[in-house]
Amino acid sequence: MVSLEGSATTVSEAVETRRSLRAFLPDKVEPKLLKEILVKASRAPSGTNMQPWNVHLLFGESQAKVSQAVLQDYDNNVPYDEEQPYYPDKFFEPYLSRRRKVGWDLYGLLGIEKGDKEKMKAQHRRNYEFFSAPAAAIFTIHRDLNIGSWLDYGMYLQSVMLLAREAGLHTCPQAAFCGYHKAIRTALALEDSEVVVCGMAFGYADFSAVENTLQTDRADADEFIKIYS
Ligand SMILES: Cc1cc2nc3c(=O)[nH]c(=O)nc-3n(C[C@H](O)[C@H](O)[C@H](O)COP(=O)(O)O)c2cc1C
Repeated sequence: MVSLEGSATTVSEAVETRRSLRAFLPDKVEPKLLKEILVKASRAPSGTNMQPWNVHLLFGESQAKVSQAVLQDYDNNVPYDEEQPYYPDKFFEPYLSRRRKVGWDLYGLLGIEKGDKEKMKAQHRRNYEFFSAPAAAIFTIHRDLNIGSWLDYGMYLQSVMLLAREAGLHTCPQAAFCGYHKAIRTALALEDSEVVVCGMAFGYADFSAVENTLQTDRADADEFIKIYS
């Protein structure tokens, strides 16, 4: 098994050791370091160099403000309401099985049994605490941009996550924030034109946390690659 500790020194190592980690140490992450990562990542390609990314980098009080605003809605059962659907309206195979597997594997590690809605909710709630990470970001995009720019955005986000590995950091991308964009909009005074793409937790991983031992599968090569000669 590949070690997730330390820093990645090659692109392959960064790709292999990038995991969505869900427990972080309280150790501070320097704002300068994260800003450097966000700037370096902006070398990501984008159609006609439009660079659709827009980052709200959060530490300390501002991070707590976003967390509290979202948690207030979450705890008061304000309905989840995203501006752009991330998932299909109805899951189907093979996506349904893959989604279920990662969910049950995570809950299994945490000792959460099927049907224990309270514990599941408590684990989901950890999203809105950014899994205790000492730094976070909310990524937004202009609402008039199209699917191509969202594709470009994904490249930017992966670049951020790989560069974080080079700096010895780990991340968790978090679509969970999209459904509470109204709370985020108020907390950060977002422009009306901005749509929340996702959140992201940044920090040094807590390797003693069982959730960080999660191993996610990938489909075999012949399930998704066809070679033509
Ligand atoms: C855009 C995006 C949004 C995600 N949102 C969440 C989230 O809200 N909460 C969470 O715990 N994981 C989230 N994930 C992590 C996925 O569950 C994870 O990428 C997947 O299970 C594969 O695991 P790995 O990232 O460790 O390789 C997200 C991933 C992506 C790419």
